Amino acid sequence: MNASPLDFDRYDHIRPILWTGDTLELLDQRKLPFVVEHVTCTTSDEVAEAIHALTVRGAPAIGIAAAWGAVLGAREIEAENGEAALMKLEPALQRLNAARPTAVNLAWALARMRRVLATSGADWREVLAREAQAIAEEDLAANRHMGALGADLIAPGSGVMTHCNTGSLATAGFGTALGVIRAGMAQGRIGKVFAGETRPWLQGARLTVWELQQDGIDATLIADAAAAHLMKTGAVQWIVVGADRICANGDTANKIGTYQLAIAARHHGVKFMVVAPSSTVDMDTPSGDLIEIEQRDPGELFGVGGSRTVAEGIQAWNPVFDVTPGELIDAIVTQQGVVERPTTASMRALFNA
Ligand code: MRU
Repeated sequence: MNASPLDFDRYDHIRPILWTGDTLELLDQRKLPFVVEHVTCTTSDEVAEAIHALTVRGAPAIGIAAAWGAVLGAREIEAENGEAALMKLEPALQRLNAARPTAVNLAWALARMRRVLATSGADWREVLAREAQAIAEEDLAANRHMGALGADLIAPGSGVMTHCNTGSLATAGFGTALGVIRAGMAQGRIGKVFAGETRPWLQGARLTVWELQQDGIDATLIADAAAAHLMKTGAVQWIVVGADRICANGDTANKIGTYQLAIAARHHGVKFMVVAPSSTVDMDTPSGDLIEIEQRDPGELFGVGGSRTVAEGIQAWNPVFDVTPGELIDAIVTQQGVVERPTTASMRALFNA
């Protein structure tokens, strides 16, 4: 199928992270979809707290926010050159890095900021700001490219299901898995989109279907528990998800519930696609067993929309990511290319590691 050039702006209106030149404005994802409000950050610690609290979320977005956090942190110190600045900035960088453990994009972005700082001169503040801007711009370009690569894998008329939120809200714009869905819808390849609620934080219900609605893309919300049944009906040919960390053997950490979708997909002959920029690929981690899985407040399970639904005194376990084995993944799509049925050898071949 010949893809016509995509009108990116037509399908992509939301930006979660705005640098004003002076402050960082974060679209407050805790309040969506009913309140569209920005939180202003003026210090690196405010950015670290915003990442921890999920004001800004999604692997690429937290990397970009952390990079701007480093720029804000630079205002709190004085130094003659980048090397001296790096020593003084290091505690703030470490606090940003510790804000969330699973998505590798956070450490990746901060490593980039450290690298440019270490070799810069008296203009180190400008160098840092340019690097943060570059990280954001490269992410948007990567997403647009991955959108085309991923959509190419989808046969015309297919139904797709996604999980969590991997859209403009989770990135510099356009999205990863949602970028593939945007591109696939624009090209007429995708007939129907289903989004899982993504309990307990409801990224799917609160963010994904709202984001798609803003861009005029029809999506049907399902309960997470309806996914296997949906696959059995034959309504979807692809599960398309993002990633927080992709290991050297293709094992992929993503939002809790992704693993069970991959198992159900394989059982039903539904294909499973992971879409992520190469900043999410962690070739230093050989397999998924070594990934730290973030545990969040069990209280997230005790209610819906602020109302308590669970009796007092109940215990809960709340891991917010899981690891899908590489062998259950049909395609990993990055801006550097596609790895089908990933293995350590095929990952190494693409990522030169
Ligand atoms: O806890 P979250 O909302 O930050 O989790 C987000 C996800 O798991 C996404 O699928 C992943 O970060 C990819 S976003 C392009």
